[in-house]
Amino acid sequence: MTHTGILLPALVAHRGYSAAAPENTLAAVRAAFEAGATWVELDVQLLGDATPVIWHDADVARCSDGRGELKSLDLESAKRLDVGAWFGDEFAGERMATLDEMLTLLDELRMGVNLEIKVNKGRDAIALVDTVLPLLMEKMPADRLIVSSFDLEALRRCREFAGSQTLALGVLFGAVPGQWQAMCEGVDAYSVHPDWARLKRPQAEAMVAAGYQVLCYTPNDPAAFEPRWHWGVNCAITDEPVAFKRFLDHRDR
Ligand code: G3P
Ligand code: MG
Repeated sequence: MTHTGILLPALVAHRGYSAAAPENTLAAVRAAFEAGATWVELDVQLLGDATPVIWHDADVARCSDGRGELKSLDLESAKRLDVGAWFGDEFAGERMATLDEMLTLLDELRMGVNLEIKVNKGRDAIALVDTVLPLLMEKMPADRLIVSSFDLEALRRCREFAGSQTLALGVLFGAVPGQWQAMCEGVDAYSVHPDWARLKRPQAEAMVAAGYQVLCYTPNDPAAFEPRWHWGVNCAITDEPVAFKRFLDHRDR
């Protein structure tokens, strides 16, 4: 991997500050910024009309006042949904963010983003990457961007798309498979993103020794996570950036 210029922080706010605001919204990113986070993790998918939007689930039931699959919505119908009131009355009226709107906000706030290419079951990884990458690479500087996915086909397509341009790719794992390193090498990865609870110390140490940044998702208790810093883990992708920041600031003193 060529030098990315990324100054990776020790914490990334998962889906924005999702413990304090509705996940994956502009409000959650503003909340993360106000809480002192410099990077956020967000999920991107396509609506039925191929508009890229910031959204985690395959459907809209959990995080909006509507129901049905994301792929059955066009932008107009998606924008009619209230995606804030489910979380709290003070967020009523929040609208689903398009990728374009989110990138504009990230630029205003000068924040970094770990954008997860979310290939939900039955969705087309290539169509998602081919739609997202042109906009992403046009609007987001390479030193404030990591593109990650559980889906290796999507990551391979990202690498192809980037060509000679710098693009940091991260490989997401649940339980880390025996062939993790070959999978990372196959996409010229910058980082490995394992599930913090399933990561074993020898695996973390092997990742660090192989030169990868290690970003763990989604620890929310800084004390329980603490030993991982000694394993060489670089970053916690957390719903609780304030608790992590407090803990890290205290450790540094
Ligand atoms: O990118 C880390 C984490 O977000 C992966 O899992 O389900 O929260 O998108 P999920
Ligand atoms: Mg995610």
